[in-house]
Amino acid sequence: MDKKSLMVTIAVLGGTGKEGKGLAYRWANAGYRVLIGSRSSERAVTAASEIIELLEGSGSVVGTSNQEAAQGANIVVLTVPYSAHRETLESVKDLLKGKLLIDVTVPLVPPKVSKVQMPAAGSAAQEAKEIVGEGVEVVAAFQNISYEHLLSEDDVDCDVLVTGTSKDARTEAITLVEAAGFTGWDAGPIENSVVVEGLTSVLININKQYGSTHAGIKITGAKNK
Ligand SMILES: NC(=O)c1ccc[n+]([C@@H]2O[C@H](COP(=O)([O-])OP(=O)(O)OC[C@H]3O[C@@H](n4cnc5c(N)ncnc54)[C@H](OP(=O)(O)O)[C@@H]3O)[C@@H](O)[C@H]2O)c1
Repeated sequence: MDKKSLMVTIAVLGGTGKEGKGLAYRWANAGYRVLIGSRSSERAVTAASEIIELLEGSGSVVGTSNQEAAQGANIVVLTVPYSAHRETLESVKDLLKGKLLIDVTVPLVPPKVSKVQMPAAGSAAQEAKEIVGEGVEVVAAFQNISYEHLLSEDDVDCDVLVTGTSKDARTEAITLVEAAGFTGWDAGPIENSVVVEGLTSVLININKQYGSTHAGIKITGAKNK
């Protein structure tokens, strides 16, 4: 546990769900203080207890509303289905000023989740930037990491592509990617998130055609550190 992690509080909005709970577990395991956000504080408290149980009683994980979680955190991570993306962001946007927002949302349009369908803004992350406005750095990350990898301490052979509104924001997010146990790559400006979000539908296609459940990606031909 490094000193930096002790000073950072991460809110995971929608942290009661599959992807958010897994990321919350990984960050709590790395020593971060984690707030689980939900539309229902009761559900968030239950999710927090489940994570603490997995951590055998160690770790700082507290369940609360999405708004209280966003207010109490330095970094806010959004893990809700795309259908809830705008509504959730609208409900917390005034609490995000000066903070880093990490958007994990993939703009899937059920039932055709294996087909890339981007919103008018270009991508979910660009839409998030439009909604939260000035004073909030937005990063897109983890779209290609299946939740099935997250609720264990196993090493996972998948990389995370990080795009975002500034180099500093991407660097800060890569610290969290590494804390979660993955190799993070600076994949450039937020406009590039369209490729990363779109890759998720490609991976869902691969899962369907090759009988897998958690296909991922790995960068080759470049050295990371
Ligand atoms: N699952 C994966 O493997 C995976 C991988 C990469 C990226 N992602 C992306 O991560 C995001 C979350 O995925 P997930 O599988 O974790 O989703 P999920 O389990 O279906 O939902 C996550 C949470 O979002 C909240 N939510 C659900 N419907 C909502 C609604 N209509 N309005 C407001 N909040 C709602 C719920 O929290 P409360 O009811 O507690 O508020 C729920 O627990 C998605 O955008 C997904 O594409 C998922």
